[in-house]
Amino acid sequence: MSNYAEEINKRRTFAIISHPDAGKTTLTEKFLLYGGAINLAGSVKGKATARHAVSDWMEIEKERGISVTSSVLQFEYDGFCINILDTPGHQDFSEDTYRTLMAADSAVMVIDASKGVEAQTRKLFKVCVMRRIPIFTFINKMDRDAGDMFALLDEIERELGIATCPVNWPIGSGKNFKGVFDREEKSVVIYSDTQKGTKEGDTTVIPIAQEDRLAEYITEDLKGQFLEEVELLDGASAEFDLDAVQAGDLTPVFFGSALTNFGVEIFLQHFLKMTTTPLPRKADIGLISPVENDFSAFVFKIQANMNKAHRDRIAFMRICSGKYEASMEVKHVQGGKTMRLSQPQQIMASERKILEEAYAGDIIGVFDPGIFSIGDTLCMPKDQFQYEGIPTFAPEHFARVRQIDTMKRKQFVKGITQIAQEGAIQIFQEFNTGMEEIIVGVVGVLQFEVLKYRLENEYNVEIKLENLPYEYIRWVENKDIDMVKLTGTSDMKKVKDMKGNPLLLFINQWSIGMTLERNNGLVLSEFGRE
Ligand code: G4P
Repeated sequence: MSNYAEEINKRRTFAIISHPDAGKTTLTEKFLLYGGAINLAGSVKGKATARHAVSDWMEIEKERGISVTSSVLQFEYDGFCINILDTPGHQDFSEDTYRTLMAADSAVMVIDASKGVEAQTRKLFKVCVMRRIPIFTFINKMDRDAGDMFALLDEIERELGIATCPVNWPIGSGKNFKGVFDREEKSVVIYSDTQKGTKEGDTTVIPIAQEDRLAEYITEDLKGQFLEEVELLDGASAEFDLDAVQAGDLTPVFFGSALTNFGVEIFLQHFLKMTTTPLPRKADIGLISPVENDFSAFVFKIQANMNKAHRDRIAFMRICSGKYEASMEVKHVQGGKTMRLSQPQQIMASERKILEEAYAGDIIGVFDPGIFSIGDTLCMPKDQFQYEGIPTFAPEHFARVRQIDTMKRKQFVKGITQIAQEGAIQIFQEFNTGMEEIIVGVVGVLQFEVLKYRLENEYNVEIKLENLPYEYIRWVENKDIDMVKLTGTSDMKKVKDMKGNPLLLFINQWSIGMTLERNNGLVLSEFGRE
């Protein structure tokens, strides 16, 4: 085992997923209270930035040189070194939001107790399931009136298809929120509001057997009610099973209130016990162990146009094994070249920090002279392997692109192809034609604006976008299919991606079902191949 195993084993790298406003930012801020933040990376965004994501986007890009959407922060707590990856939401939602999950070893799902499972959580959750990464659930805003928690757990199980195991259980909600019952310890943690920034340190914990003490805080009625609920829970909920958690089949559930800073440290402590050290990753030569191999990493995101004059880009990579040291020589496998990484930095929105060293589990950003692509592998010059690619995620918005000045055909094709290669958009062509007719697909609508802006500013090409009604895309998995013969509903559109893979666009899910019915043996997939 390498001598940096200790550093690696301290690391925990996770992404936070939630629907906007569930409390992701507030929870992250509270996490930071418990650890000395080592590198604050703009993830804990100002409210103003979050609210004006669309209008400010270009300005922010220009002023800061980097999108506010790219953020990781690192802090230490109780001997652990924790990397939190933010998954951009609101209008910033894009493929990067999905790709971030490729760089995490687990995910924390924040759910607003009164709202339940919402659209964005559902989407991100699908990617977690695809990767089978462990998911930890924090039911937030218990200080507000919430409905029946059994119904909420049911909803999670039904909608997301994952078993739930509450580690603790809330006692009341809203004005009647009295705390949480720790199912293992059989004790009650009394609710306290410490939002002024103090740690949870002086929480009152009362074993359930100490009836007199408990009576000081909780009425007989409420006590009777929660004890009944807990009994029901003991009979009904899934048993805790760490293997099932780590396989992504079971989610431990915690209750609390990020705003008033209650239940956050309890969550953090359990989470750190249940989650894993940086996981081995699949490469073409087999699994690569984080501690038994020297440095390796893969690129999961490329941020372009950091500085217009230089057209610079930053490639963000997750270190998968070993240790990175400043000015070390590494091999870029796909490019077949040995190189030194240029100014590796900890990611950062408002602040950049040049790194001296980093370990498996950490995320670094390096200047990219245009050589990296998403999914690329870096390793030591002596090694030769490639990490598994990152899948292409299904866009949900489509538009036909028309060039205003048709004389600039060459720049247009070059620009749009490059932007697609960076992974900011996906481009498709009519099945039987070439580049004459281009359809752009994006995951978040803001990307349409970004495309227009970048084509104008970087390639001097003006375009017009004509929205198309499609919302669903499916890759055709059958290798030897005759696309001409394939019959679907009249609103279905046949296209191909940049690599020539056949795809179908649909307006609704019903049409997908009909098409499958009409074509025996047809296999459709939501995720594209790299
Ligand atoms: P997000 O990152 O998931 O989008 O959510 P964020 O943390 O920004 O929280 C969204 C809103 O919910 C904020 O209110 C925040 O204060 C509130 N909130 C977060 N956690 C809790 C909680 O545990 N209890 C209650 N009652 N509220 C919570 P806001 O009105 O949008 O902002 P602000 O004006 O309060 O800053």
